[in-house]
Amino acid sequence: MTTESFEDLVGRRRSTRGYKPDPVPRSLMEEIIAIAKRAPSSMNTQPWNFHVVTGDPLEKIREGNTERMMAGAAVDREIKMVDHGYQGIHRDRQVEIAVQLFEVMGIERHDKEKRQDWVMRGFRQFDAPVSVVVTVDKELADDTIAHFDCGAATYGLVLAATSKGLGCVINGQGIMQSSVVREYANIPEDQVIMTCVAMGYPDDSFEANGVVSRRAENEDTADFIGFDD
Ligand SMILES: Cc1cc2nc3c(=O)[nH]c(=O)nc-3n(C[C@H](O)[C@H](O)[C@H](O)COP(=O)(O)O)c2cc1C
Repeated sequence: MTTESFEDLVGRRRSTRGYKPDPVPRSLMEEIIAIAKRAPSSMNTQPWNFHVVTGDPLEKIREGNTERMMAGAAVDREIKMVDHGYQGIHRDRQVEIAVQLFEVMGIERHDKEKRQDWVMRGFRQFDAPVSVVVTVDKELADDTIAHFDCGAATYGLVLAATSKGLGCVINGQGIMQSSVVREYANIPEDQVIMTCVAMGYPDDSFEANGVVSRRAENEDTADFIGFDD
């Protein structure tokens, strides 16, 4: 048996936005959660929770999220976002990945119908057979360290799923109507919804799954201080 290196695993992971309908066994999801929760957290507080949703409850979440968004309901997230949208370099990167995705999907800039269809797919969690809703304990919800911890666990979740042959996309669109998610995923009152991760077996014929997003150069991302070489 060959073991994939960490570098290869990280290198081949990408967001998956097209799935086969095949169900994912609960036992596999248990293994993935067991790996994800090995993430480090501040003082080992482990402020994260995973709600693994499939079948009818997930269909209800998709329907409710999509219906409300299409009806023009205000975004109903439980975590705060900047209210001016992304700007500057962040906006540029947002546009760049959208252009890459739209290009392979054959979505023209002015094709409102196809663009709308793409947005709807996001609200439906790309029709993935599983959605893992990640929550933070309410007690620590205003502590950004706990958000950091949840991010670490979420990346662990994504890498674990990838290592087990699944595809995933962290999907903020899926929790835009968080009250719907809260109702059908049965989220306890003492937890706050952070995000969800759609996952399942990837449909390799789905063009967007082949898109490799770009990253800034090291020189624009990292400073190296005190090195002699
Ligand atoms: C917090 C978070 C929320 C995201 N929400 C969405 C989303 O709603 N829809 C989507 O298509 N991708 C979403 N993504 C995926 C990003 O677009 C993706 O990670 C980024 O473009 C880099 O591409 P890659 O994951 O293929 O490397 C999200 C990623 C993160 C980390």
